[in-house]
Amino acid sequence: MLSQLSVVPSLCAVYAPFFEVLKGRAMATMSPTLGIDFGTSNSAVGYAVDGVPHLINVEAGQNTLPTALFFDNEEKRIIYGRGAQEALIGGDDGRYMRALKSLLGTPLMRESRVLLGKRMDFIAIVARFLAELKTKAERATGQQFDRALSGRPVMFHSADPARDAQALVDLTECYMQAGFKQVRFMPEPEAAALANRAVLEPGDLGLIVDIGGGTSDFTLFRQEGDAGIHILASKGVRIGGTDFDRELSLQHVMPHLGMGSQIKHVFGDETHAAPHAVFADLATWQKIPFLYTREQRRAVEDLAKYAVEPKLLNRLQHVLEDELGHDMAFAVEAGKIAANDPDASAPPQIDLKIVERGLTVPLPPAMMAASLAQMAAEIAQVATDLTAQAEVKPDAVTKLIFVGGSSLMGVIDRAMRDAFPQAELHRGAAMTAIVDGLAIAAPHAFADG
Ligand SMILES: Nc1ncnc2c1ncn2[C@@H]1O[C@H](COP(=O)(O)OP(=O)(O)OP(=O)(O)O)[C@@H](O)[C@H]1O
Ligand SMILES: [Mg+2]
Repeated sequence: MLSQLSVVPSLCAVYAPFFEVLKGRAMATMSPTLGIDFGTSNSAVGYAVDGVPHLINVEAGQNTLPTALFFDNEEKRIIYGRGAQEALIGGDDGRYMRALKSLLGTPLMRESRVLLGKRMDFIAIVARFLAELKTKAERATGQQFDRALSGRPVMFHSADPARDAQALVDLTECYMQAGFKQVRFMPEPEAAALANRAVLEPGDLGLIVDIGGGTSDFTLFRQEGDAGIHILASKGVRIGGTDFDRELSLQHVMPHLGMGSQIKHVFGDETHAAPHAVFADLATWQKIPFLYTREQRRAVEDLAKYAVEPKLLNRLQHVLEDELGHDMAFAVEAGKIAANDPDASAPPQIDLKIVERGLTVPLPPAMMAASLAQMAAEIAQVATDLTAQAEVKPDAVTKLIFVGGSSLMGVIDRAMRDAFPQAELHRGAAMTAIVDGLAIAAPHAFADG
């Protein structure tokens, strides 16, 4: 499987023939293999015609789709992508889910719940999303796609090899349940390298810096003329934009809902800090749907009753009762993007009016940079470790190619420039480089085309 070759230097032997085939003969037909970038935050699908990637319009005029579902209780149907987000923000009756990729490999994947009257586990839920992508591609092209070349992070779980292996097993199962007969995997930054091969000139050493919603992934590569690319090594870490959101939420938002505040004991004058777990889960995109249980609501009701500052815990109670966890996560994400925008007209803030009228948290860029500095340093360290692993000096890297939505973050830009001061910075197609590469590679993912 391509996925198993991710750090093998001879990978160029796999990629080079792609281009020889492309050069040698004109391929008149569309590839029967669909390239799928199943992202933590956004997904996209594409196929190749004559070696040129074509992306599917997954929503009107859009070639990316938020990886989100809304189980609409009133209409008894699943809404995908931007529509799911609109239903959530509009306050429709239903259950919203996002960042499900982060659950792959964890026991939560096999937990089931009743949705629209049917018991489903998260394998089935992810499969529904992938099936939707398949259907959209088939409708758009009039062709059936039984095979998929899927992206995968270099590591789903960089700190846990067993979970990492399980994540691939889970995702494979999701593809099978979605109706694909076969799936192969390609590391996401290697797909981005394929898509960006023309950025390199002879003698260049390129580093793909793919900072997404759930992971940060790197590939060090050279261009081999028209014949393909030579991958030196790839490496990844489980930190992405959703972790930035989580960190910002924990540091700046959750204290307004009672995190760290004191709870009185039922008897006596002693107090203890409110338990942390509920705040940690509420700040974590993929954990939010698991919080809306009767037991959790009752536990928070008790905390509010004995809280030294009931006003704060009452907000938490309100968030759980009205299921506002995702609305808050969107508010944090919007605050992050605003604080990252050097041209923003208004002072950046996290707007929590959904929780309480007039409640806002200022988020000056310097404060955000300080909150995320450690994660940015960890990410840059992985890139430096990658060059050491490939036995090249950081100064030998001549081009940094930024892709993925979180590569737009100023803290990432600065950390990477510091780590690779000699390299020229190139911004690839932030949201579509990976699917472009997967579409280019798709016709060659299976031995028989
Ligand atoms: N302008 C921006 N500034 C900062 N961050 C941004 C901006 N636009 C998007 N993001 C962040 O980018 C992330 C999504 O990026 P992307 O779509 O590349 O991830 P993904 O491919 O779904 O995730 P992964 O590859 O890790 O599975 C989100 O966390 C989002 O908040
Ligand atoms: Mg991605």
